[in-house]
Amino acid sequence: MQTRITQLFGIQFPIVQGGMHFVGKAELAAAVSEAGGLGILTALTQRTPADLAAEIDRCRAMTDKPFGVNLTFLPVVNAPDYPGYLRVICEKGIPVVETAGNNPVEHLPALKAAGVKVIHKCTSIRHALKAQDIGCDAVSVDGFECGGHPGEDDVPGLILLPLAAKALSVPFIASGGMADGKSLVAALALGADGINLGTRFVATQEAPVHERVKQAIVAAGERDTRLIMRPLRNTERVLRNPAVDQIIDTERALGDRIRFEDIAEQVAGVYYRIMVDGDVDAGAWSCGMVAGLIDDVPTVRELIDRIVAEAKSITKERLASLF
Ligand SMILES: Cc1cc2nc3c(=O)[nH]c(=O)nc-3n(C[C@H](O)[C@H](O)[C@H](O)COP(=O)(O)O)c2cc1C
Repeated sequence: MQTRITQLFGIQFPIVQGGMHFVGKAELAAAVSEAGGLGILTALTQRTPADLAAEIDRCRAMTDKPFGVNLTFLPVVNAPDYPGYLRVICEKGIPVVETAGNNPVEHLPALKAAGVKVIHKCTSIRHALKAQDIGCDAVSVDGFECGGHPGEDDVPGLILLPLAAKALSVPFIASGGMADGKSLVAALALGADGINLGTRFVATQEAPVHERVKQAIVAAGERDTRLIMRPLRNTERVLRNPAVDQIIDTERALGDRIRFEDIAEQVAGVYYRIMVDGDVDAGAWSCGMVAGLIDDVPTVRELIDRIVAEAKSITKERLASLF
């Protein structure tokens, strides 16, 4: 398969694994890249830039194929050491960075100077256009269905993607709700150059998370996610559990008076307990509606091969026979 995304990133299939806190570690990123997609390490899961450097080395020991690093700009008071992470990314010769959460403009000169390609993940056409204008090489267009932060506009992929195709000249990939070969064909039909998957890659053999996290995704239906933190304008789609119900109760009770501290216990610093210890009810964790389409835990290679084979058969058989 050749699309503008496979050419830009030097990969076999236009399938990208989005950055995921406590999931995007070397085991998963290397497996995705080895299977012909683009794996992505999540910088902020590594406590320090030195830890990220070590994780990059660990990933390189597992694959000689290209992989990227996700850098998420968080709405927090005490910002992580972004310059330090950026330095490591540039020094280590990482070919592509996925930025998310905020406009990456101030970091682009350093990344460009080091020859790093930038794909910015955003949830609206105006932000996608902004990313293109400031010089990002590609955009990841994340629809309302997505796990993680869908933004505040609530526009699903079926509307966002054709709008992106009309508005953008840089390559873009479809993100949010992508699960299988049907997703890939649909994304390409809507004008995208590839797909970005989050939740689907959590439920794979190589994802370095507790088995209970994978089984929670397999067990979940399409109605089992909730949006939290909307009153804080930091909306996140998460899997429903008792901690999430508690957050929603607090949000209802406090209305506009809510502050982050009111829900911090269920949101802040909970990923280790969830992803590593497997205490899936310990707090809120990102999960997309696509959980409703996930009912197994394949290896990454099985998943990617299956996506490509299904996309091929839909295109060559079902669609070709219609005309
Ligand atoms: C468990 C989990 C953690 C995530 N953490 C991050 C993150 O740290 N940074 C980021 O940019 N996106 C993060 N995401 C979003 C994904 O990169 C991707 O955009 C999203 O999952 C796509 O939607 P999907 O889950 O429907 O495939 C996370 C998603 C999940 C499921």
